Formats: sequence, structure tokens, C-alpha cells
Amino acid sequence: MVWPNEDYLKLPGSYLFSTVARKQREFSAAHPDAKIIRLSIGDVTQPLAPVIIDALHKAVDEMASAETFKGYAPDLGYEFLRNVISEKDYKARGCDIAPDEIFVSDGAKGDCGNIQEIFARDCKVAVCDPVYPVYVDTNVMAGRTGTYDEKTGTWSDVIYMPCTAANGFAPELPKTVPDLIYLCFPNNPTGATITKDQLQVWVDYANKEGAVIIYDAAYEAYISEENVPHSIYECEGARECAIEIHSFSKNAGFTGVRLGYTVIPKDLKAGNVQLHSLWARRHGTKYNGAPYIIQKAGEAVYTPEGQAQLKEQVAYYMKNAATIREGLAAAGYTVSGGVNAPYIWLQTPNNMTSWEFFDYLLEKANVVGTPGSGFGPSGEHYFRLTAFGSYENTVEAIERIKKM
Ligand SMILES: Cc1ncc(COP(=O)(O)O)c(C=O)c1O
Repeated sequence: MVWPNEDYLKLPGSYLFSTVARKQREFSAAHPDAKIIRLSIGDVTQPLAPVIIDALHKAVDEMASAETFKGYAPDLGYEFLRNVISEKDYKARGCDIAPDEIFVSDGAKGDCGNIQEIFARDCKVAVCDPVYPVYVDTNVMAGRTGTYDEKTGTWSDVIYMPCTAANGFAPELPKTVPDLIYLCFPNNPTGATITKDQLQVWVDYANKEGAVIIYDAAYEAYISEENVPHSIYECEGARECAIEIHSFSKNAGFTGVRLGYTVIPKDLKAGNVQLHSLWARRHGTKYNGAPYIIQKAGEAVYTPEGQAQLKEQVAYYMKNAATIREGLAAAGYTVSGGVNAPYIWLQTPNNMTSWEFFDYLLEKANVVGTPGSGFGPSGEHYFRLTAFGSYENTVEAIERIKKM
């Protein structure tokens, strides 16, 4: 007799994006003439940059001849890609990360979800609140989170670090000492970030307590301010306490192409075990590598033309972010984010709940956003809008919101 994994049964339903989609569908059915603008999901809308398309075509052609055909990729990823990542994302920023400390993958989501596997089941996990749901849900699946309290929307064995207006949406050191700390800056959903000095405090804390920080840098390309770190390895001592996860989705539009990487420095240990060797074992056993074609496209991201074209793409989205942020502020909303991130985090007016504001916005402006409460209890009374739409739609959405 087979039984399901009970830890999976503990997961509350996939409420957030499915409820958003259902409500949008129902509204459309009831108002077929309404032109709905979606500023809700974190997916890009601009096409791949020409330099990437070119690299993809060339790599596809290589697959057509026996001399250049490629089969399984090397376990850690092709050297041409790991070398350029080490050079451009790390050494150029003064960070000491070697190519063989980089594990190429098919995106950050899988790595964010899988990384917990190399840690003991009784590790205590700390997350920001609100938070990208993958960190918590994958620890639930691993049986690490205790019991769920429907009333508070929290797990008994998870340490929540509220990120609120009072602390500038930057977490404070937790009162209970965690073993694993998930940090994501620039942040999804709040769009907030922290300075290098603030991040150094976390690195020092993790080293002092023997904790590991899992640093999700998916939105690094959106950083516009000087004192904001692009990598946790800019902080002293991070090689001994941090894993960093990157995505090609938001900087280069690879959401449908799929590419990412994870860095585990060889100095990082749990007890006397090198975590690098555990992840290498896991990678080699459970993963067969991102396709050659896609890794060639990833390499093109780092060429001078690639960097120029992608800078323009990021600037396009950040113009949307400024349009939303400034438009909402002018309309009297309390807004944050949108300076170093493609997300704008707004406080709902008149103390509306996040879902009340969702309905109000859909009804009055035909605009879809994401209720902050879906990201954790401290997201209640907040709402997330994304800068990933077209400029024209973004402008129109803000005009409509101003008239509400
Ligand atoms: C914080 C964060 N990490 C990771 C991801 C996933 O990135 P990828 O497309 O590389 O899987 C997302 C996607 O929205 C994200 O918001």
C-alpha cells in the first residue's frame, strides 16, 4: 500500500496566483468589454535581446553537425559560462569566486527550492515576512516547518522576520537564532533593498552563530543606487557563511528560456563538511545540466553588446517602475520600492485589506495587481504592482488609478 508524502499534505492550497487568475477570469466574463491591464505577475514581456537570439541561432546550428554537436553538459555547467560569470559578476566587483564554485542550473526557482536538501531536517529556518513563497513551501515539503496556523498564516517552526514600513522593509536580526537564513535583495515582493553595511551585519551574525545565509540575488540587475551590494560576497566573511543564487530571468528575459546559477564557496562548511561537495553530489545525481544552446545564450549576456542591450531592457522596465511609483505618490498613495527593483509596494488606502483593494482596483480601474497578504502576514494592507508590463499599459493603468 502506497502513502503520499504527508509533508506535502500540510501545504495550504496554492491560493495566491490561482485566486488572482480566477478573480480576473470571473471579472472578464462579467465585463467582456473591459480592457484589463495586468501588473500582477513577475514575468517579463520584452522579447529576447538581438545578441541573445543570435547566440541561440548559432548554437542551434552547431547541433546540426557531428563535429560541433553537444550532448550532456558538464555537471557544473560549461566552463565558457562559469569563467565569464566568475570574471564579470564577481572578480570585476572585487569578489573572490572561482569558476568551480559556480553551479549552472535551469533557473533560480529550482535552486531556491532544492538547496535546503543539503541541510539537516532539524535546521531552523528564518525568512523575511513578506516573502517569495518558494523558500517556505519547499521547507514545508521537507518536513522542517512544524504545524500551520491558519489564523496567523504562519508555521510553528519557522522564524519570521517582519519587513514593515517601521524598519524600512529590512529585516532585523531574529530573537531566536536560526540555522538557515533566506535573504533576497532587491526584494520580491517589497522592492526594498539593503545597503552593504546592513548586509555586512547579517554576514557577521551568520558567522558568529554558525548559520548559513541563502542569498537570492535574482533582481541584482535592477540596482541603481551606489551603496547597494550586487553580491553578498562583497561583504567580508561571506565566503564562510553564504550561498548565492542568480537568475537570468529578470536581467536578460530568460523566464521561458531557463538559466540560473548557484555559488557555493569551498570555504563554506556545515560542521566539518564542505557544502560545495554536497551540492556537487546532489547536482550530479539529480540534474543533467542546462542545455548547451541556453548556456551559449547565457554567455552572450556578458558580451559588451549583450550588456548594452540588456541595460536598455532593464531601463525600459525601470521607466515603468518610476511611472508607477511617481504616479501613485502623486495620487496620494504611500509607496516604496521601484528604485532598485521592478516591484512597487503600496499601502492600501483607508485600511483596506489586500484582497479588498485587489477587488476595488479590478472593479474601478480594471487593473490587476497582487495582494500583499499572499506573501505573508506582514504583507496585509499592502499591494504589489510590477514594472514588467508594456510602457503604454503602465501609463494607462496609472491614469486609471489616479481617476479612481
Ligand atoms: C525572488 C525570486 N527568486 C527566484 C525567482 C525565480 O527565478 P527563475 O525564473 O530563474 O526560476 C523569482 C521569480 O519570480 C523570484 O522572484
